[in-house]
Amino acid sequence: MLADAVLEHLAIPPGGIVVDATVGLGGHAARILDKLGKQGKLVGLDVDETNLALAKDRLACWSDQVELRRCNFRELRGVLDSMGMAGVHAIVADLGVSSNQLADADRGLSFIEDGPLDMRLDDRQPTTAADLVNSLSERELADLFFHNSQERFSRRIARRICEVRRTSRIRHTAELAAIVCKALKVDPKARRSKIHPATRVFQALRMAVNDEVGALQALLEAAPACLAGPSTDCEGGRIAVISFHSVEDGAVKRDFRRRAAAGQYRICTKKPIVADDDECRLNPRARSAKLRVAQRVA
Ligand SMILES: C[S@@+](CC[C@H](N)C(=O)[O-])C[C@H]1O[C@@H](n2cnc3c(N)ncnc32)[C@H](O)[C@@H]1O
Repeated sequence: MLADAVLEHLAIPPGGIVVDATVGLGGHAARILDKLGKQGKLVGLDVDETNLALAKDRLACWSDQVELRRCNFRELRGVLDSMGMAGVHAIVADLGVSSNQLADADRGLSFIEDGPLDMRLDDRQPTTAADLVNSLSERELADLFFHNSQERFSRRIARRICEVRRTSRIRHTAELAAIVCKALKVDPKARRSKIHPATRVFQALRMAVNDEVGALQALLEAAPACLAGPSTDCEGGRIAVISFHSVEDGAVKRDFRRRAAAGQYRICTKKPIVADDDECRLNPRARSAKLRVAQRVA
């Protein structure tokens, strides 16, 4: 299981301080707290109020050791400052969305069930997927689909979206999924591939709505100054990132390599760790997960 690999590579010291930057439903956090023992502390962040409430319930038996904050992980340095924490022993970020978020049709993250074309993980943000789909130019839409998720037919799909929205605003996930299928001339029911034709378009829009790459870059930039440096009684802190697509994995790989070349990090995972067949069978989304870990050495 990837969660086992996270624990193994983070080498969490008993009594340490760990940040779970994407606490989600508290699955990783519970296992980390087990390792930390009674003296340890966990800071859990999430932009999603619902998930944060679920994590609070799940972690209730450690309530005096857990600090949960509703915020974007790009604000990590400020959060630690507000808690009077200088350096932490580990940071873990399990990027993307949780299964309950995907399954909630009202969030508009998936085309399986119809819902509003929203896609915000943080509902305090003003811009929804419908805003982007109905306001970006044909060129901007095509570039977004191509750059965020390497959609090969980005131009054709963008053209079709612009034709449809000339007569009415595109508001629902099922409408967008049908537009993509029509642009690609595929019948989603008769398709051969297991992957729905609209998968990449939905992923690209979700990444844009939530500025996922920008938030990750900000976290990677802030991380060295948030991790404890090596000292006589403790090794340098570690960061573990699980990503689900090549744009994010590429950003993590480049950041770790650049810092390793500068003598700031040691890379703990020479190659990304991926889920084994059993985990992929149980959770098909794990197929695209990649875990990379680095340690602060200076
Ligand atoms: C894959 S889930 C994490 C699941 C978690 N590791 C667990 O064991 O339950 C990703 C979570 O990160 C949150 N998230 C995504 N981007 C975020 C960001 N920039 N800042 C904070 N939380 C974020 C999502 O709302 C979601 O709850």
